[in-house]
Amino acid sequence: MTAGIDKLNFFVPPYYLEMTELANARNVDPAKYTIGIGQDQMAISPITQDIITLAANAAQPILTDEDRQTIDLVILGTESSVDESKAAAVVLHRLLGIQPFARGIELKEACYSATAGLQFAKEYVLAHPERKALVIASDIARYGLHSGGEPTQGAGAVAMLVTSQPRILALSDESVPYTQDIYDFWRPTGEPYPVVNGPLSNQTYIQAFETVWQEYQQRYQKTLADFAALAFHIPYTKMGKKALLAGLAQESEAEQNRILAQYEESIRYSRRVGNLYTGSLYLGLISLLENSQTLKAGDKLGLFSYGSGAVAEFFTGRLVPGYQEHLLTDAHEALLANRQALSVAAYEEVFQTPLTNENLTASTDTTAFRLTAVNDHIRYYQE
Ligand code: COA
Repeated sequence: MTAGIDKLNFFVPPYYLEMTELANARNVDPAKYTIGIGQDQMAISPITQDIITLAANAAQPILTDEDRQTIDLVILGTESSVDESKAAAVVLHRLLGIQPFARGIELKEACYSATAGLQFAKEYVLAHPERKALVIASDIARYGLHSGGEPTQGAGAVAMLVTSQPRILALSDESVPYTQDIYDFWRPTGEPYPVVNGPLSNQTYIQAFETVWQEYQQRYQKTLADFAALAFHIPYTKMGKKALLAGLAQESEAEQNRILAQYEESIRYSRRVGNLYTGSLYLGLISLLENSQTLKAGDKLGLFSYGSGAVAEFFTGRLVPGYQEHLLTDAHEALLANRQALSVAAYEEVFQTPLTNENLTASTDTTAFRLTAVNDHIRYYQE
């Protein structure tokens, strides 16, 4: 019996900033951002887009009425939650019109949590093959203006429909999760921005990949040759490449180049969007599937998930025959191409605009799902 990703979509907000403009405004050599960090553009989320609207905008286009009636689990992974208690998935469940006898929950563990959600969803549909699960990764990645992490911000959501007859990626039981208590990046309750030890987070990410990759090879008696491609969590596109080169240092140059070529396909969308936190690995997966010209049905993929704090996981899946027909490549290209570029001044203004009903009303955002008012801490949406 199999279970895996049957439908896959992402959504990013309608604004972006060119990284060269940000670099010029911060008196930094643009090559540091475009080459050193590996980012061309950064998605900017207006106040009308929160993690719930980003998630709804990602999920709505892939759901049929039949899906809405058979989804039993709505799992939302995020680290930019809008409430300490009520799960964003409960609101999302209503916005998407999912049948009422379902579970709606929110998961937290930095950028990792959607991967836990995917594994829970997989187990659920394996036990209930007639039912489905919706897993969404949704985040607004913000480090603050003029902060060290400023060039690694972004926003967006990835929605995945998990079923027992997946048409895109069949997930295997091979997986190596890895937890270690480390303060490399965290956000104390009530703080608007995370506390980050950038060098430590880079180091821990690389060490975590090396550890789970070694363990995976030993545990399952597999080698790099078993894989057509690897997809990585991508806080910025240089990060996965660093881990890849460190973790695969023992491999031949030809093997490293084979995997690196696929990695380049996996970062095409992230270069234009920036950091999606929980969604970054899955945006990378979508980019890989939609841009690689050499992948084919039956190919085995490895996915490396990393959330600071830290939890990592290496897991695998196989591409299902006909998977290409279920990709939304044209829609994704249009979504990215139709965004509006902001100046640095406009980006800073968006960033600092307080969440008030007056500002929400004045917004020109016309996205299908958007926040329209907040009264007594209750959020109201255009649906
Ligand atoms: N041209 C080309 N490359 C340049 C450059 C230039 N003019 N100037 C610097 N670079 C390169 C550096 O050599 C470095 O590359 P390397 O790491 O491959 O050696 C890269 O750009 C970044 O430079 P660095 O000095 O390390 O940047 P920084 O001190 O501003 O920190 C981050 C970068 C990513 C650590 C910081 O943005 C951050 O804290 N981000 C948030 C945390 C995060 O994303 N962690 C990842 C794991 S989840």
